[in-house]
Amino acid sequence: MVGYVCLIMRKQTSRIYSLIVGKAYRGKGIGTKLLEAAERYAISQGAEAVRLEVRCNSKALRLYQKLGYTVVEKKLNYYGDGGDAFSMNKEIVQHRIEDVETINIKRKRQNPAVTTAA
Ligand SMILES: CC(C)(COP(=O)(O)OP(=O)(O)OC[C@H]1O[C@@H](n2cnc3c(N)ncnc32)[C@H](O)[C@@H]1OP(=O)(O)O)[C@@H](O)C(=O)NCCC(=O)NCCS
Repeated sequence: MVGYVCLIMRKQTSRIYSLIVGKAYRGKGIGTKLLEAAERYAISQGAEAVRLEVRCNSKALRLYQKLGYTVVEKKLNYYGDGGDAFSMNKEIVQHRIEDVETINIKRKRQNPAVTTAA
């Protein structure tokens, strides 16, 4: 095993509880793929948002920002060692609707007769 992601489902909201890639395997896109797989599972289970906490100033923060997560709150002394965390959120239903709209706009440009949603 080179890494894992742990996702907790709570009704419409899902939470990334843990995401870890082994040191020897980092920087190869595995963390991105694990996170995307967790999002796909959350969507398949009806989730409307994915939430998580991440250490401030960590490498993981960049990964989450790259995939569309935004900081909603700073939590002081969140970790056992006194470290602070950012709470992050991604509205996955909104992203899906935007994707569908983008696809539809492209389709309409190619074929103006297309009017129905995907
Ligand atoms: C965070 C973690 C899961 C990323 O896994 P990974 O397989 O290395 O991630 P990826 O290769 O998919 O990289 C994704 C993005 O993370 C960021 N990143 C990865 N390695 C980085 C590094 N050494 N320095 C800065 N940013 C880095 C980059 O933004 C990168 O995107 P880019 O390659 O397009 O620039 C991994 O570093 C890890 O296990 N860290 C320790 C545990 C941890 O912090 N987990 C998160 C807790 S919420």
